[in-house]
Amino acid sequence: MRRVGNDVVDLEDPAIAQTHLRERFVARVCCESERARVAGSSDPKLLLWSLFAAKEAAFKALSKSGPLVFAHRRFVVAEDLRSVSYLKQVLWLRVDVHGSCVHAVAWTDDEPPIFGVEKLEPGVDASAAARALLIQRLGGGGLTIAREPQPGSWNGYGPPKLFRDGVEVNLDISLSHDGRFVGFAADSSGAEKR
Ligand SMILES: CC(C)(COP(=O)(O)OP(=O)(O)OC[C@H]1O[C@@H](n2cnc3c(N)ncnc32)[C@H](O)[C@@H]1OP(=O)(O)O)[C@@H](O)C(=O)NCCC(=O)NCCS
Repeated sequence: MRRVGNDVVDLEDPAIAQTHLRERFVARVCCESERARVAGSSDPKLLLWSLFAAKEAAFKALSKSGPLVFAHRRFVVAEDLRSVSYLKQVLWLRVDVHGSCVHAVAWTDDEPPIFGVEKLEPGVDASAAARALLIQRLGGGGLTIAREPQPGSWNGYGPPKLFRDGVEVNLDISLSHDGRFVGFAADSSGAEKR
């Protein structure tokens, strides 16, 4: 099954205003070559969070194939931001900047997934908004999204899954929310693919 992952980062979140200047954080997230790229970048903040989002997107995609401890440095992002590697696995990648939001999407097969980002109105529940956005893009029609209990996973729950009228649809999806933004990615190959 094709795996997809996505991650949004709100670049105007005050909590990350100076993070790109913190060497220990950069060293925890980036491998040596990525650190050099960040240091030499004309926009180190944008590049750092693009790399971070890419790694999170790839982790979300790959963690669905089996237990995976997340070590950001082990996910290596290509200089052109078109692919991300983890050990011998290479995922396709796209990174888009929408105003003050970075959105990364990673996927395992040739066909690009569908994806989207939306800015939230203040006070809206981000988790629910991400689900609503994805379901709307998939056409609604009895679709729901749930995370099932998964003993042994880092927070006791598995990744989000898509259901139609209560029956799981074999179409991989991914959700993300950060600050004022929500995002999603979904396999574009059509539902019920086995
Ligand atoms: C999974 C993870 C990458 C999510 O990133 P985040 O920045 O916290 O949050 P995001 O908004 O980008 O994504 C959250 C969404 O990811 C999805 N998600 C959660 N776990 C996931 C997983 N293992 N795989 C794919 N998607 C997952 C959920 O849909 C979640 O949204 P929801 O809570 O509204 O359902 C992050 O929590 C993480 O690093 N987990 C791994 C921790 C780990 O391995 N720890 C090991 C030591 S204990």
